[in-house]
Amino acid sequence: MIYKTGDILAVNTDTSGTQAGKLVVLIESLCDDELLVAILADEVDDHKTETSSVPISQDDVEEGSLNAAGTVNLHKLTTTTAKLCKRVATLKHPKKDELLRKFVAMSTEVYYRNILNEEDTFVPCKSSVPYGGRIYNEKELVNLVDSSLDFWLTAGRYAEKFENDFSEIFGVKYCSLTNSGSSANLLAFMALTSPKLADRQIKKGDEVITVAAGFPTTITPIVQYGAVPVFVDVTLPTYNIDCSQLDSAISPLTRAVMLAHTLGNPFDLQKVKNFCDKNNLWLIEDNCDALGSRYRLDGRWEYTGTVGDIGTSSFYPPHHITMGEGGAVYTDNTELKRIVDSFRDWGRDCWCPPGKDNTCQKRFSRQMGELPKGYDHKYIYSHFGYNLKITDMQAAIGCAQLKKLQNFIELRKENWKYLNDGLKELEDVFILPRATDNSDPSWFGFLLTVRDTSPFTRDEIVRHLEDHGVQTRMLFAGNLTKHPCFDEMRENNEGYRTIGKLQNTDRIMNQTFWLGVYPGMTKIMLDHVIRQIKDFVHQTTGSKGS
Ligand SMILES: Cc1ncc(COP(=O)(O)O)c(C=O)c1O
Repeated sequence: MIYKTGDILAVNTDTSGTQAGKLVVLIESLCDDELLVAILADEVDDHKTETSSVPISQDDVEEGSLNAAGTVNLHKLTTTTAKLCKRVATLKHPKKDELLRKFVAMSTEVYYRNILNEEDTFVPCKSSVPYGGRIYNEKELVNLVDSSLDFWLTAGRYAEKFENDFSEIFGVKYCSLTNSGSSANLLAFMALTSPKLADRQIKKGDEVITVAAGFPTTITPIVQYGAVPVFVDVTLPTYNIDCSQLDSAISPLTRAVMLAHTLGNPFDLQKVKNFCDKNNLWLIEDNCDALGSRYRLDGRWEYTGTVGDIGTSSFYPPHHITMGEGGAVYTDNTELKRIVDSFRDWGRDCWCPPGKDNTCQKRFSRQMGELPKGYDHKYIYSHFGYNLKITDMQAAIGCAQLKKLQNFIELRKENWKYLNDGLKELEDVFILPRATDNSDPSWFGFLLTVRDTSPFTRDEIVRHLEDHGVQTRMLFAGNLTKHPCFDEMRENNEGYRTIGKLQNTDRIMNQTFWLGVYPGMTKIMLDHVIRQIKDFVHQTTGSKGS
């Protein structure tokens, strides 16, 4: 008799531990009539886990019947022989799918526990203290494998779930996933160039107020489009825009302000928002390094990224949550959401999700541009767009990460505070970071600026730390206008403006670095970081260490 996976079999004689008459479910026929089966119990077993038990009832079977509902226990696998078995029923397709997915999930958990979960013991000076890293366990891996079993590949059910969960957590109407934080910034900016925005459309040559101390791709879309970034200086120790310069930066061409919340520390949203409202400017918050940061605006706590017209996130591995590569654009504005999705999805006018047709019920009845009436809306393009969509495998990882976000935020805050407390006594040689007034940062890193009066340079302490296994990072570009990508614009003195001399921005370029606070950092690692900094300072200043 040939049995197939999902068959429910009665085993007639006791072999290999199964009792006579017991029901089993066939997982896979092995060679020589041997069958790999899972035991079907009358009740849910005490050892059940979410991934190892599958409840079944009469409704789940065909080609026969069950006497009573039961549970397939995937942690009770055994083998039996085909000739001892008799089929009593077979699982319908959806139940068989559930059973096999849980079988795969259980194996995935075993793989995680035995291969990926090997903890390295931290050995000071031998091991490295990374500035960031992905934190995951079997949940991310199970989701990833589960999405691969769908083999949908492009954005699908996990992407939709992530977008909904994200919107709910952060209280925004719309979240659109994309394939990186840089893509998110590109979409956020390009959305504002849409002709659909009429007199609020950003045009080539229009100006956007921003800062040069940060990540390049906050600025890149502005330059690539042919708009003009106007760089304002930042203040220390918050490392955010100096709002006192906003009024000097504005011109009749100004259309928007586009700024990042530096390493999790919110910029002064109250001042910037008031300035944008007063001058009818768009506000884009690059929230890539600040997921979960909050700011008290008009007396109410708001998440950063949700105050301006559009917010963006990055899910690259060191970020607050990761998908490997990934990003998101979020907004409360229905029109902007449509435009963002259009730019993301080839520039199309249609908003059907992948694989769906005719969501608007007007697929063949529209008249747009100079196209013939009724031209398929699926292939009508209202923008010169891109394809910046995410895959469902990335979104599946994100769904598991999102559940851990609150815990990650707390750990980041704790680690930041631990470094701050441990380094407080060094305030004579370092400018220590400070949270912006009215803010509750979800820190990305711990920024240190070597004081002008210190007996050592930033490069010297960075070299010492790197030599002793402590990873350091610059505040990204430092001063972006000094980079080779600006050579041509600098030489021709065109394509951008600066307000004043950007003195603090240069100071950051020359004297600032940052350390990690990511959730994978243990107290031993943090102590090692503090010890190494203190040792170096005491060596160079000649003072005695504590
Ligand atoms: C402030 C900021 N914006 C944008 C990005 C770009 O994100 P991604 O690396 O996902 O493209 C980063 C990257 O770390 C960032 O720090």
